[in-house]
Amino acid sequence: MLTQEQNDRLTRVGRGTPAGELLRRYWHPVAVAQELTDQQPTLFVRLLGEDLVLFKDKSGRAGLLADHCSHRGASLLYGRVEERGIACAYHGWLYDCEGNILETPPERNDAIMNSVKHTAYPVQKLAGLYWAYLGPLPAPCIPPYDFLVREGTPRVTVTRPVLDCNWFQCIENTVDPTHAAILHQDAENRRAVPVNTTRGFIDDEPSFDFWRVPFGIMKRRNFANGESDEHPFIFPYILGGGGALYRVPVDDTHTWCVSVSVRPREEGGEDEVEEAVVTYTEPFKDPPDRMHPFTRMKMNTIRQQDFMAWETQRPIADRTLEHLSFSDRAIVAMRRLMVENIEKVERGEDPLCVIRDPDHPVIDTIGANNLNQTGGKTGRGRPYGITTGTLMDQPLKGTGVESGR
Ligand code: FES
Ligand SMILES: [Fe+2]
Repeated sequence: MLTQEQNDRLTRVGRGTPAGELLRRYWHPVAVAQELTDQQPTLFVRLLGEDLVLFKDKSGRAGLLADHCSHRGASLLYGRVEERGIACAYHGWLYDCEGNILETPPERNDAIMNSVKHTAYPVQKLAGLYWAYLGPLPAPCIPPYDFLVREGTPRVTVTRPVLDCNWFQCIENTVDPTHAAILHQDAENRRAVPVNTTRGFIDDEPSFDFWRVPFGIMKRRNFANGESDEHPFIFPYILGGGGALYRVPVDDTHTWCVSVSVRPREEGGEDEVEEAVVTYTEPFKDPPDRMHPFTRMKMNTIRQQDFMAWETQRPIADRTLEHLSFSDRAIVAMRRLMVENIEKVERGEDPLCVIRDPDHPVIDTIGANNLNQTGGKTGRGRPYGITTGTLMDQPLKGTGVESGR
């Protein structure tokens, strides 16, 4: 159970908030690259509570500007892209990708052009997506995770609609292995039927391990038949495991889920395909634009079941009312990791997973040829390459989760 202040500290994403400042140290996916075309050269983006317009000018450069024009506030979404940038549709103020004002029709106002700078953020394109950085300069690099930088065809899956809930409850789910045996017991690809719907398949999973790894937390579900299954939580909000699921904080009460991976080119296969394969999921609720309880969540697939759980925890989960149990211990550890890194930012230090070396080697989150630190293998016979870390198998004192199951 948290205090309201602790909950706000972990969840709020606006500029000047503790988590908002932490999140402003990372690059975030903001749009599917293919959606920005010559026919549609502007896209609206909301990220970390900021309203922005992504555009591609006629020289091919991409920019990300604050939505409201610095003149009198019309949206730049309706601006005309030109060779040198984007011109506001209302009176034609012309902005370049850095937010410089190049023209102020109907008159030329040098004082404004020299003194006013429109909010502009760095953008780059990688793995079929545009990425944005809203923090202090110089910007770090997008960490070269294996699932982003392999040679091959990028694959992007976009969840529609955007989730009507805070980002943090989505990522708590990443270190919550017990729910899989209960919530997902009747997902449509389950082959077995549980003997008991209350316990689902939980008795097939006698134990779990969590340990800190250089980029976050690894979790492992140990099955009664001797197999196990592992997934990394990659700081600050990625679920890894072959590809990666990003939970992008749109604002305090909305989260954009986008999966991305680059399928490795096959030996002797075709040349790298630049164009990503993009899939949009069906709406997961009916009607799709309403919130609980004025909509009905679909409960067929694992994803839909997760979305039901996340959205119905309330727009921002109220952690002043929760009662954590021992199996929630990794959630406590994850909150601590988040607080540790919020404090690092407050001290002026770089938080976890901020990488500044452009030549940083590829970060192996799968580790095809390595065993993890305890020597375990996944149920798919594919070990992860994690060699360091601290096992988190001890009860967490003072957190209300001190008894075992
Ligand atoms: S409101 Fe944009 S130019 Fe006037
Ligand atoms: Fe799940």
